[in-house]
Amino acid sequence: MKVWYASDLHVESKTNRTATLALRDLAIKEAPDVLILGGDVCNGPHALSGVLAMFSGIAPLNVFVPGNHELWDGAIDARTIHYKVLPEICSAHGFDMLIDEPLQIGSIGIVASMGWYDGTFAPPNVFSADALARKQHLGRVLLDASQLRWLAADGSPMSDADVTNLLLDDLRSQIENLGDEVTRVVAALHMVPHANALGQRWNEEERSYFRAFQGSERFGELLGRDSRIRDILCGHDHESSQSKIGTITVHKRPVGHIKPGSVFEPTAHRVLLDL
Ligand SMILES: [Fe+2]
Ligand SMILES: [Fe+2]
Repeated sequence: MKVWYASDLHVESKTNRTATLALRDLAIKEAPDVLILGGDVCNGPHALSGVLAMFSGIAPLNVFVPGNHELWDGAIDARTIHYKVLPEICSAHGFDMLIDEPLQIGSIGIVASMGWYDGTFAPPNVFSADALARKQHLGRVLLDASQLRWLAADGSPMSDADVTNLLLDDLRSQIENLGDEVTRVVAALHMVPHANALGQRWNEEERSYFRAFQGSERFGELLGRDSRIRDILCGHDHESSQSKIGTITVHKRPVGHIKPGSVFEPTAHRVLLDL
């Protein structure tokens, strides 16, 4: 069974749109059984329809994992976008967004989560919780700070720890709901689940503050508890890598922001698992 995953298409630029068409053509050629788009395909929820339409009908089963960029919207809060707006757009194009239930195909399970960040990737004892909550450092601002806001059901703001807990609960439910017949599980995330899977550039001192916003160890810890999970697919930090968390292989081959005029090799920017 072939599982195909691509993330961080960022279709706002002409260069990335051309690359996305090349990836779509590659997916058609590779004919996966499950096609997964792993988030940051576009800014805000409204452009998602067009991207999903490009990829719908290629595979019999399709999963969309949101990225932080799909939550960028001036009017609607991130929780409403994540749990209401995006699932409706997905179902109109034959894509599933997994919330409480996994996807099962015989003995293979797929679980999925955007993941989030909670400071667990920050260098220890350097930045206070307040400093991280500001999402800006030395004149540089994390765009999530101005482009999205998570609100709880009562309208109060959610902290990044709250968001992490919320999404971990969903992912835990998916794992608990896997049937006994499932012997192998693939986890599809947007953000990075373990510091070992971060790209090298996050070790540079001037980037060390923003390392905190690439993901959370807690997703890796949760996924590491189920021995059926052998592969994690993720993106978000725009740096390809393959790494290990115990017996799990973490595959990261995001598209990212492509420089105009550079050569784009689509096979280097998707993960294809043959299980
Ligand atoms: Fe991205
Ligand atoms: Fe992202």
